[in-house]
Amino acid sequence: MRLEAVDERNYPSVIGLELHEDQRAFVASNVRSIADAWVHRPKLEPLALFSGDDLVGFTLLERDGPEVLHVVRFMIDRRAQGRGLGRKGLAAIADVARAEGRSRLVLGVVPGNAVATGLYRAFGFTETGEVDGGEIVMRHDLAPADLPG
Ligand SMILES: CC(C)(COP(=O)(O)OP(=O)(O)OC[C@H]1O[C@@H](n2cnc3c(N)ncnc32)[C@H](O)[C@@H]1OP(=O)(O)O)[C@@H](O)C(=O)NCCC(=O)NCCS
Repeated sequence: MRLEAVDERNYPSVIGLELHEDQRAFVASNVRSIADAWVHRPKLEPLALFSGDDLVGFTLLERDGPEVLHVVRFMIDRRAQGRGLGRKGLAAIADVARAEGRSRLVLGVVPGNAVATGLYRAFGFTETGEVDGGEIVMRHDLAPADLPG
């Protein structure tokens, strides 16, 4: 899995990524995320997720301080889901955080998003007990000894 900047070449495809209808309440649209990133640049960084040559997903990362990488948005296109790409995308994001010397990933999950919650738990995220903007906050501490990817 490769993370690439959203740029003038790939952004039409990034905003064309789709979710299943019952997933749309779980994450803002990619158009909205790119707008958020522009307004809050350079703190927010929108990234396209590639598997080989295929654009399969999108993430929006936030850097606020040296320790934490906040995964503000994360989605895999409906046609590419269920093939382990969500897990690989998280691993690629964790690699970015480690490469920057960060020790933690943090994200929020809409209550009822069982697939995402299951994926994050399996990856090593735990609930912090906090709720932020109606979302359940989860964190994953990155041990320096963790193997990349
Ligand atoms: C959450 C999401 C990113 C997972 O992407 P994915 O590529 O399907 O994930 P994976 O294929 O890596 O699967 C991860 C785990 O979820 C499970 N899973 C995937 N789709 C599932 C489904 N429809 N029902 C039940 N479990 C499912 C898989 O079995 C896998 O568990 P396993 O490793 O124990 O087999 C994707 O479903 C998505 O984009 N959802 C909508 C947006 C969203 O909710 N984003 C998260 C915001 S916090």
